[in-house]
Amino acid sequence: MIKALEDIVSQYEQTQIFVLADSCLALDLPYPTLRIEASEENKSLESASEIWTWLTKKNATRKAVLVNIGGGTICDLGGFAAATYLRGIDYINVPTTLLAMVDAAIGGKTGVNHGGLKNRVGVFRMPKAVIIEPSFLETLPTDELLSGFGEVLKTALLIGDGVFASALSALDKLASLGRLSRVSQLIDTCRAYKESVVAQDSTETGLRKVLNFGHTVGHAIEESLASHSEKVTLPAAKRSLHGYCVVWGMVAELYLSVVLLGCPKELLQQMTKVLLDYYGRPNCNCKQQEELINFMRQDKKNAASDAINFTLLKKAGDPIINQVAPKDLIKEALDYLFSV
Ligand code: GLY
Repeated sequence: MIKALEDIVSQYEQTQIFVLADSCLALDLPYPTLRIEASEENKSLESASEIWTWLTKKNATRKAVLVNIGGGTICDLGGFAAATYLRGIDYINVPTTLLAMVDAAIGGKTGVNHGGLKNRVGVFRMPKAVIIEPSFLETLPTDELLSGFGEVLKTALLIGDGVFASALSALDKLASLGRLSRVSQLIDTCRAYKESVVAQDSTETGLRKVLNFGHTVGHAIEESLASHSEKVTLPAAKRSLHGYCVVWGMVAELYLSVVLLGCPKELLQQMTKVLLDYYGRPNCNCKQQEELINFMRQDKKNAASDAINFTLLKKAGDPIINQVAPKDLIKEALDYLFSV
């Protein structure tokens, strides 16, 4: 068992330690374990209900702790089930994907999808601990690793030029031996940055919105791809991995940043190259622009229902929250994204 997890759960009564795990993980833990297949469909109120029922049957009390072992889906779902069971029990996240290690598992956003919209229902509740075990990355498929790297690139751009340069160089060497040590340092940097932002604004009333850079367009693409999943030729899951959508979103939002805030064009060019070299173009086309803009309007981050809220960059390390862009300019940014 992971030593750090053992140390933390030893503070709880032995009979009150419960594990929610991604069903594809081979784990041998001495605690009652509920395995759920990690999919967007299973990130639902039905799955939360299954967890509540299971905890009830196992006599979990308010002193219980739920240990979520998996990627963002498992951490978000388990965090939500824990945050609402008996009005809230402790939970610990053990992220097994790069995406969860640098973003999803940190910061206390829990929730499930609802009505075809991602993370529509949820609460903020901090995990008691987040345990990073980089060895999980050794067996992570490359597309999952690249997806997580999308959030690494986002965080690097929020921090500044130096970390962005390190991230680009790590991305270059991702396929080579020793990738883990390079990524481990970046994980620590990204985690520390996110924790410091969340410590200042846990419920996203202001500063935390910086973390949404790339996500207004990214989420819209993700939701549009999910709603058309039956029509795409490659497996939809591969085409709409969150971090890929964030990379596409960052390219469009850097375009907006250049026009609206005078962000250096070089950053847009560098991210465009990253897109072309590693991620490929988004699998949606210009005809879906209106639909994408409609999805952007439904984004939780919007203060008014008809205004679309962006976090844009003045330069690397200088994010500006609460930016709005005219609809024609958003279309122009999407045109750029679809035609690079
Ligand atoms: N994923 C962005 C946040 O946690 O605020």
